[in-house]
Amino acid sequence: MKDQITYPKNVFFLGKGGVGKSTSSALTSLKLAQNNQKTLLVSMDPAHNQSDIFERRFSEKPYAVNDYLSVIEVDTNKWVNKYLEDMQNQVKRTYSYLTAFNLEKYLDILKFSPGIEEYALLLAYQNIRQKAGDASYIIFDMPPTALTLKFLTLPDLSLIWLNNLLQLRQKILDKKEIVSRVKFGKKELETDKIKSKLLQQIQLYEQIQSVFKDPSKTILNLVLNTDKLSFNESQLIVKKLENFHIGINNIFLNKYYNGFDISGIKSRYPDYGLQILPQNDEPLIGLNSLTGYIAKLDGFVEL
Ligand SMILES: Nc1ncnc2c1ncn2[C@@H]1O[C@H](COP(=O)(O)OP(=O)(O)OP(=O)(O)O)[C@@H](O)[C@H]1O
Ligand SMILES: [Mg+2]
Repeated sequence: MKDQITYPKNVFFLGKGGVGKSTSSALTSLKLAQNNQKTLLVSMDPAHNQSDIFERRFSEKPYAVNDYLSVIEVDTNKWVNKYLEDMQNQVKRTYSYLTAFNLEKYLDILKFSPGIEEYALLLAYQNIRQKAGDASYIIFDMPPTALTLKFLTLPDLSLIWLNNLLQLRQKILDKKEIVSRVKFGKKELETDKIKSKLLQQIQLYEQIQSVFKDPSKTILNLVLNTDKLSFNESQLIVKKLENFHIGINNIFLNKYYNGFDISGIKSRYPDYGLQILPQNDEPLIGLNSLTGYIAKLDGFVEL
């Protein structure tokens, strides 16, 4: 694993349900820790399998498995509530003059609005980056495909919206300025609160977007099995992310068995690293089982 990297580096594990995202995340985290790399393993999947895999009780508070590896399980509900609270406060502050129109009633509807879950995950992600301390790697064990794709493409989609809103706001401000010049004979100098907020949000999403798209800062590992269904879903994931200029770095071929022909995968993904993880006879549960499995591996893909 390379030394010259920008810290902390994001490593996302994604793929179809049940292919081994959580197991691959756990194995990779332990391998990095064995190489004396400070690693934070983060479960972003509300199903939270890391507690079962490590046979420990993880929570939002980092749990030190050893000197180099800590584990966090993100409390998605907490972040959904935090996101809603932030939104409500912001709307109340900006539109305080509308209280007579029973703003509360409309704010209640917010929690049923689509997209809340991925915004909440993005909020959790930012918080984790801030408190990652001196970790060299943050390994994200991601939820099933649909939510993960929404999460990774959220900065791009939000930026399309925000830039359009900014243009609209600018048009309104230009009109206001003409009116004020006619009325008072001078330019209105006051800064617009809504425009400032839009600019601030744009800056935030551009920053997250640039980290997601920079291979020196973010690694995407796509987990698949030997079956046709997981291979097909992997192709859909790659295509969808390519549309957003987000590239996969490595394929983790999990539950591999001797005799399986990997040439199809190699020819479909010639530019990606390939990590082969053989099917284990026993379930990969518990530290002994995981470290024993790593010891038997031929090598580990460079991150
Ligand atoms: N290489 C392996 N050898 C044997 N069993 C494995 C291997 N990889 C994963 N498993 C088993 O397969 C099951 C699914 O693995 P895992 O939970 O890691 O998948 P996942 O992609 O995270 O699933 P989900 O989509 O539900 O989060 C688990 O029971 C796990 O122990
Ligand atoms: Mg999982």
